[in-house]
This record gives sequence, C-alpha cells and structure tokens, in this order.
Amino acid sequence: MRYLILSDIHANWQALEAVLADAAGQYDRILCLGDYVGYGASPNEVVDWARAHVSVNLRGNHDRAACGLTSLDWFNDHARASALWTMAELSAENKAWLRALPQGPLPHEDFALIHGAPLDEDEYITSPDLARDALDYLEPALAFFGHTHLQGGFVRAGRRMLTVPRLPAKERAAVYEWQPGTRCLLNPGSVGQPRDRDRRAAYALYESGAHSLAYRRAEYDVPLAQAAIDAAGLPPILSARLAEGY
Ligand SMILES: [Fe+2]
Repeated sequence: MRYLILSDIHANWQALEAVLADAAGQYDRILCLGDYVGYGASPNEVVDWARAHVSVNLRGNHDRAACGLTSLDWFNDHARASALWTMAELSAENKAWLRALPQGPLPHEDFALIHGAPLDEDEYITSPDLARDALDYLEPALAFFGHTHLQGGFVRAGRRMLTVPRLPAKERAAVYEWQPGTRCLLNPGSVGQPRDRDRRAAYALYESGAHSLAYRRAEYDVPLAQAAIDAAGLPPILSARLAEGY
C-alpha cells in the first residue's frame, strides 16, 4: 500500500490543494496525524475533505480545542483567538467528527501514528533525546508523528540517535533510507503552517514495508491563504508567518 502522510493541515485549504496536486497518482490511501484545524481560515473545507478522503485519522491538540474537548488556558493569545474563531465557524457535524477522532498512538499495519509524543499528544519531539524516550513507548519499529511542524525526524541505530537531514531549500523531494533493525520516528512536516523557515507545504509518501520515506515540499498560493486569514479577522501573525514558514 502506498500512503500519502499528512499532518498539521491547520485549515489551510490552499496548501492542502497544492499537496494533493503534487502527490496525485503516487498513493493509494491517505493518513493524517492531526491538527486539521486551527490558525487557518478554511476549517470546514478541510474537515469536509478529510471526512471524505482520509483513511486513517488521528486527533491533534487544535482539533481537541476546536470542539471543546480541552481548555484553551494553555494556548497563547493568537492560538486561543483562532480556536475560538474556529469553534464558531465549524459546522455541528464537523465538530462532532473532530470530537470522535482517536487519540494516538494508533497502530496501523506495521507502524504507529502519533500527533505529539506517545504518552502526551501535546508534547513536542524536537531532539534526539526526546525521540529516544518516545521510542521506548512505541512497539512498532516505525512511527510517524507531527505537532512540531518540522519535517524530518529521528532514528535509533543501536545506542546511536541519528537526525534525519533537512530537505535543502531548493529541492522538492528527498528519499530518506534506514537500515533494517533501526527504530524510526519520522515527521512528514506541516501541510498548512511549516515552521522550518521553508514556506512550502510539507508532506511525505511511504510504501508499506519499505525502509525509506519520501519527504516532499510543494509550493502553494501563500498570498491567497493569507488573504483568507486576514478577511476572517484572525490575528495578523497567522497570515504573516506563512510567508516565512515560521
Ligand atoms: Fe499543529
């Protein structure tokens, strides 16, 4: 089975459309690691699409927030403002769908899906040490995670931890291969709000049983996504950051 792996779409319809066009014909099923909504201006469009097209869904912290499953106290000001806007904007059906999303780790075939970390979906795995801890709590040798909005990941080879190298700014694709027997925690990056100083939408392609992952980036119409955020009256930082990818 060939999978399109998405994470952190964050209601960015323009970025999602570009990813789907870029990956067309190269996958059989879609997996999503959560954060369908929050920050962006198209929550219903993205959730309507996910309900119709994504085979394996997982909830993220912003999905929880947007359907009232969590307190907004720990969100910063702009995340809280966007969560409140999203809550008011979402249809009742889409809110019910978000509320029913499963929490990770979610086993699927011979890998696992998580949003943040295995024991805490709100925790950010941003270092080899955090990845080493996380791998201890995962049964399969391969897991995909999101939440950091940073494409890449970590691999444990014996006692050594390796960091997956970044995709160079001018490259649209890079295949990362690992040795059998290693344990991998890999992040496809964020479709709708990349934070690795590369504004292009990030995603990944994986084929069952392979010891490799294709990391991809797709250009999208950033000004259109920004205009939608501004027109919705969302905090200006949410449109500004899309231009720089932070
Ligand atoms: Fe996110």
